[in-house]
Amino acid sequence: MTTTAESPHVAYFAYRDRLLGDLRTTTLSGEQLCEAGRLIYGRPEGLSLYGVPAPEMESAGIRLLGRTTIECCVDEYATAVADVIAAYHATLSGDHKPLLMDLFCGSGNFSHPLATRLGTTAYAAELDPEVHAATAHNLKQVGAPTELFLGDYRDLLGKHPARGHRDTFFVEPPWGPAFTPEGLDLTRTSPPVPEILDDISRARDGIPCLVVIKTNDQIAHDSLARSFHQARHLRSITPAPALPYGANMDFHLYRLSPNDHR
Ligand SMILES: C[S@@+](CC[C@H](N)C(=O)[O-])C[C@H]1O[C@@H](n2cnc3c(N)ncnc32)[C@H](O)[C@@H]1O
Repeated sequence: MTTTAESPHVAYFAYRDRLLGDLRTTTLSGEQLCEAGRLIYGRPEGLSLYGVPAPEMESAGIRLLGRTTIECCVDEYATAVADVIAAYHATLSGDHKPLLMDLFCGSGNFSHPLATRLGTTAYAAELDPEVHAATAHNLKQVGAPTELFLGDYRDLLGKHPARGHRDTFFVEPPWGPAFTPEGLDLTRTSPPVPEILDDISRARDGIPCLVVIKTNDQIAHDSLARSFHQARHLRSITPAPALPYGANMDFHLYRLSPNDHR
């Protein structure tokens, strides 16, 4: 596929459709990964996971499926998120290493920089066996401190009891029909974000925690605030937009506690 100077956004949306369509479960070639980096982030190196930029992925043995290539949280963003969370952790007391859980792990890169920095394990759930296989391979290749579980996030939640109020949950369910021209409706993701937050709360027996969510920059129906109405907003990370409104990524950090209300 070629990118024309006149229509980078058209090329982006066409490639996005392919990554979620006919290339969904295809392991992309080095050339395709560089093309994805160019179209989504403006340069091949913009697509970088586990510290490996797209031009080096093939030789480093990194395997990315089409769907994960468009869904993943790249290093530039994951590192910025890790900076913000680590700084917030530093304001909280606690002797234990926090529990890190990446509930919809895809590439596993959303939680990877924070787990690496804290020298602790990230427990990650992935339901799709093909994504799981590719990610398991990649995490092993790079020696990531991630323990990957094949299955539903609710089953993973049940396996790890709360440690303390610095425990941190990474949340990014598939958007599917929640993403329309009106924006992203977080009450319509699969599963809906309010349901995921209830599941996290139930698993914690009243102990507060942190939740970080990746969204786009066009939230529909005030659904971010409505989904987190029982949580306290702490920080938002909004990288400089590179794509049309609605196609850029934002991140939001909340404290989820039975005693907090906005
Ligand atoms: C939007 S992607 C997450 C991308 C990820 N944050 C990253 O950086 O690569 C959502 C992922 O969650 C997986 N998934 C969907 N439903 C799930 C469930 N119930 N439990 C665990 N994983 C699930 C999908 O297969 C998909 O790989």
